[in-house]
Amino acid sequence: MSLSQIAKSISASPTLKLNEKAAVLREKGEPVIHLGGGEPKSKVPMDAILATAAHLNTAEIRYAPADGIPALKKAIINYTEEFYNRRVAPENVIASGGAKQAIMVALQAILNPQEEVVYPAPYWVSYPEMAKLCGAIGVAALPEDGSFYPRIQDIEQRVGSYTRAVIINSPNNPTGAMYSEEFISDVVQFCEKRDLYLIMDDIYHRLIFDGKKPINCYNYTKDFSENSKIILINGVSKQYAMTGFRIGWAVGNKKVIEAMSNIQGHQTSGPSILLQKAAVGALNGVQSSVENLRVTLENNRNVMMDLLNSFEGVKVSKPDGTFYCFADFSAYEKNSNKLSEFLIDKVMVLTVPGAEFGLEGHLRLSYCGSIKEITEGIERMKWALDPNSPNELYIGERKLVRNWS
Ligand SMILES: Cc1ncc(COP(=O)(O)O)c(C=O)c1O
Repeated sequence: MSLSQIAKSISASPTLKLNEKAAVLREKGEPVIHLGGGEPKSKVPMDAILATAAHLNTAEIRYAPADGIPALKKAIINYTEEFYNRRVAPENVIASGGAKQAIMVALQAILNPQEEVVYPAPYWVSYPEMAKLCGAIGVAALPEDGSFYPRIQDIEQRVGSYTRAVIINSPNNPTGAMYSEEFISDVVQFCEKRDLYLIMDDIYHRLIFDGKKPINCYNYTKDFSENSKIILINGVSKQYAMTGFRIGWAVGNKKVIEAMSNIQGHQTSGPSILLQKAAVGALNGVQSSVENLRVTLENNRNVMMDLLNSFEGVKVSKPDGTFYCFADFSAYEKNSNKLSEFLIDKVMVLTVPGAEFGLEGHLRLSYCGSIKEITEGIERMKWALDPNSPNELYIGERKLVRNWS
């Protein structure tokens, strides 16, 4: 079949593919444990539900402006003021179909074919594919010191004459690492000096642990004018457990936001009015659900760390935020795809292979599920991987026999 070069270069989202695999197994009644998930399990805030229901009840569900309804823009402006101490205008804001679309249209607005966008590795799986969708090239910068905390030299080394933008995602998917203030300050100043766009993917910025405070990139900029090349990304998916609502946003200079709106207008138009109303409800409503979620995730992280630290052969660094950790299983198997397949086949535990995030030998494990799932999932993995495990494992009534070494 004849397909475009771009279509042929794009691989399916591995996390979405895994979700499908888990769903198929579950439908067959298999006791799958999903440690690959990318969404919190808590309920959507009631204010979001009520706001959607109120609009639905009007029975007049129409097109929304391509860049977002005024009420959502206002809520995003207030959010930006509260968390970033920066007052922006409605023309500095675009609401999109998830943070994913906000990043995508930002890249489409700033990248020409063959130009490059640099991001630290491990990285979110979609960045390289989004660059490809622009005909551009994603360039991963793996920290030289082997940690998950890049230094500015790691970025500098990857920036060349074709580089137009840098993407920073902190706290990071998949590692949970929250980059230091020093690094954020360095990267803001470096991008300003080199006239590069800086896309700050702050989607997890409120889901952080150990008393840490969100880092505000604007604290380090000298440029508050309409020439600022910082594009700030956020959304309701993670912090309000509203992944299915598909609302994210970007804050940037008026020209880039206008370009993004033009692109989005021809792509999808604005996000559904119902979902924009829901986001307004969440942003303007009672905020306790965010802190409840954060506390639950911190507790879940602690449980997962205890379990992994007692797992001989596994190396893991403690995440500062998000709901992921990125553990090194290379002592068992260096090929993370193989390992992930092995775990789903033998013990029905779903994990995401590190190779998808640009680092082999690792697995991304999520702790956004229940404590029971986390505990049982890691126990099953231990049983499957540790050669000293007993020969048999019971999952409910089912007996698994270890017939591999
Ligand atoms: C780092 C990162 N950025 C952006 C997104 C996209 O979020 P949304 O659901 O708002 O599109 C995700 C979702 O997994 C993510 O992990």
